[in-house]
Amino acid sequence: MLIREVIEVLRGETGFIYTARARELAKKGFKVINFGVGQPDLPTPRHIVEEAKKALDAGFTGYTEVAGIPELRQAIADYLNERYGSDVKPEEVIVTPGTKAALFLAFAAYVKPGDEVVIPEPSYYMYPEVTKFLGGKPVYVPLKWGGGERGFELDIELIEKAISDKTRAIVINNPHNPTGAVFSSREVEKVLELAREKSILVIVDEIYDNFIYEGEFKSFISFSDWRDYVVYANGLSKTFSMTGWRLGYLVARKEVTSRLTRLAVNIWTCAPSFAQKAGIVALKGSWEPVKEMISLFKKRRDVMFEELRKIRGVDVWKSRGAFYMYPNVKKLLVELGMDVEMLTEVLLSEKHVALLPGTVFSEGDMGRNFIRLSFALDEKLIAEGVNRIKSFVEEKLAEK
Ligand SMILES: Cc1ncc(COP(=O)(O)O)c(C=O)c1O
Repeated sequence: MLIREVIEVLRGETGFIYTARARELAKKGFKVINFGVGQPDLPTPRHIVEEAKKALDAGFTGYTEVAGIPELRQAIADYLNERYGSDVKPEEVIVTPGTKAALFLAFAAYVKPGDEVVIPEPSYYMYPEVTKFLGGKPVYVPLKWGGGERGFELDIELIEKAISDKTRAIVINNPHNPTGAVFSSREVEKVLELAREKSILVIVDEIYDNFIYEGEFKSFISFSDWRDYVVYANGLSKTFSMTGWRLGYLVARKEVTSRLTRLAVNIWTCAPSFAQKAGIVALKGSWEPVKEMISLFKKRRDVMFEELRKIRGVDVWKSRGAFYMYPNVKKLLVELGMDVEMLTEVLLSEKHVALLPGTVFSEGDMGRNFIRLSFALDEKLIAEGVNRIKSFVEEKLAEK
């Protein structure tokens, strides 16, 4: 396929389309409540902003090393090693303009035409898109519903069945967008065991690794043999409210990072220089603002959960990580006689509440029966927004 044709079939980030529509409505003067957002509503912590300003004032505005400035690569390695007991070396880190760029490098390093990539679904939209872009084939495996306490889980048996001799990699995003699941150590260990047994790779996206409200978290970078089976992406976007700064990173063994640097130099040369300076301070400076944000988000999550529970036909599970809730609205859709995209559409146009249909994350049942709401917004707005959904449901059902 020609590159032009490939681009024709690539899907964009639908989330951005809904956010743009929400913005348009807001410009017209409507009070829109936007549950579609995928970023913290808090500003970047002050000391990080100050460091970027200092770098700008000092004229640190040119190109940097392709793989990132050495102090930042070191700070990233230190973060992973201190937090997860790993042994990452700075030369195994490539700083990228955002986590998406790191993920793109990870896929580009390994996926070739004809390869299969196992993707648990629902999933972040980008994994199947990049797989297809590279000529590979996404093989979807639905998450398992483990029940009220356990929530969404990896279905290890189904994953194993989905692995064929064409499988190159499996993609694991933990904590998980859109469900808010935090996969257990056992699940993570099982995936790595499968990778060892079948000689496949795990492409890991741990961008939400600081957004954990309860329970344990086992990072894929903590295994002593990670170099053989793991290519790891993470970034500063969510943890430090830095989505617009474009700072992410890829960790892989040295032979891979040195080859990927060649791809990086042909696309973006380097991540923004002054953002990199600020990134060092983000990782090495005070984590107090991050801690405060996480406890604030935990409260918001609880508010959203309690409010959503009150809506007839909505089955909601209290997420444990990231900042999303992914309620099952199948019963509600049947009662309303709507599909999930129609529901999202009318909620936006009639109640000015923006959220994402699950079909953004899965074309199957794991998408069409679900909606995703972000709780990265003020508690009062959360309560008001969910109340608007509730009154919409009550009004529509009363009309029936
Ligand atoms: C699971 C996941 N990975 C990666 C990204 C992209 O991160 P960045 O803005 O650092 O490119 C997002 C953003 O929404 C995400 O949800």
